[in-house]
Amino acid sequence: MTQIAQVQGVLDASGERARSLQTIYVYEAPVRLWHWVNALAITALCVTGYFIGSPLPSLPGEASQHFLMGYIRFTHFAAGQTLIVFFLLRLYWAFVGNKFSRQLSYLPVWNKTWLWGIFYEFKWYMFLVKDPKKYIGHNPLAHVAMFSFMLFLLFMMASGMALYSEGLGIDSWQHRLFGFMFTLFPNSQDLHTWHHLGMWAIVVFVIVHVYAAVREDILSRQSMISSMVSGERLFRDDLPD
Ligand code: HEM
Ligand code: HEM
Repeated sequence: MTQIAQVQGVLDASGERARSLQTIYVYEAPVRLWHWVNALAITALCVTGYFIGSPLPSLPGEASQHFLMGYIRFTHFAAGQTLIVFFLLRLYWAFVGNKFSRQLSYLPVWNKTWLWGIFYEFKWYMFLVKDPKKYIGHNPLAHVAMFSFMLFLLFMMASGMALYSEGLGIDSWQHRLFGFMFTLFPNSQDLHTWHHLGMWAIVVFVIVHVYAAVREDILSRQSMISSMVSGERLFRDDLPD
């Protein structure tokens, strides 16, 4: 159940109530834990993936004395599998968690107010309107962006596991589950290239996402970053309608 807490504003010099702050519990602990593990895993995957695609110049000395590419690839595969396990846990939480934990599993395209909200938010991000709209969960534009991101992660996980299965062999469970990617991309180099391009799409998402989170925190009269830490959304004036 949504928990609402009211924090009465302090009295200002003239004895008026300065303001009333109101919070709503939105992101439950498993969602927050998933968010930050996901962010760390993706950062590790982008850094190590970049070096898999563009390896450092060769190191001096005996090959047996260092294992640099081995460590880079190991980190990539470990972070990749962490990403997958946490994705599955996040999926499970969408069934048992609160209604906000389910927000990313569908787009309410039948809801006209929500559809208009996408345009409004777009104008808001473009600095074309002055009044921020308040939402308890994600705003409609963020909802579309994050929903698309989750679908995109499915592609990154399936392509990554298919590439991984090349090393494990065609009788591995990884190949049985993800080998279908080679029917879509019969040339393994194509799959490498799309997996690699996917990294740049994710880098763009993360840059826009962090910019939007900081911008909204400052301008939208509702908390953002601290909400992904404490779980509570704080509304600086009124609660949303
Ligand atoms: C690789 C890095 C990151 C990825 C892939 C990522 C992805 C996501 C996703 C998928 C959600 C939706 C969560 C849900 O509803 O279950 C989300 C929410 C959020 N993320 Fe990130 N995130 C990343 C890093 C960050 C960082 C560094 C910050 C802080 C500066 C941040 C701030 C937030 C905030 C504030 C929300 C909630 C937004 C809202 O309430 O509408 N994220 N992120
Ligand atoms: C956000 C997610 C991910 C990103 C950004 C990412 C990024 C990359 C990049 C840039 C490459 C180099 C491709 C090339 O130029 O040949 C790569 C290779 C690879 N990735 Fe990922 N990856 C992700 C997820 C995964 C996952 C979930 C797995 C599964 C374990 C995985 C397994 C692999 C494998 C097996 C290779 C090929 C390694 C090699 O040829 O030595 N990746 N990844």
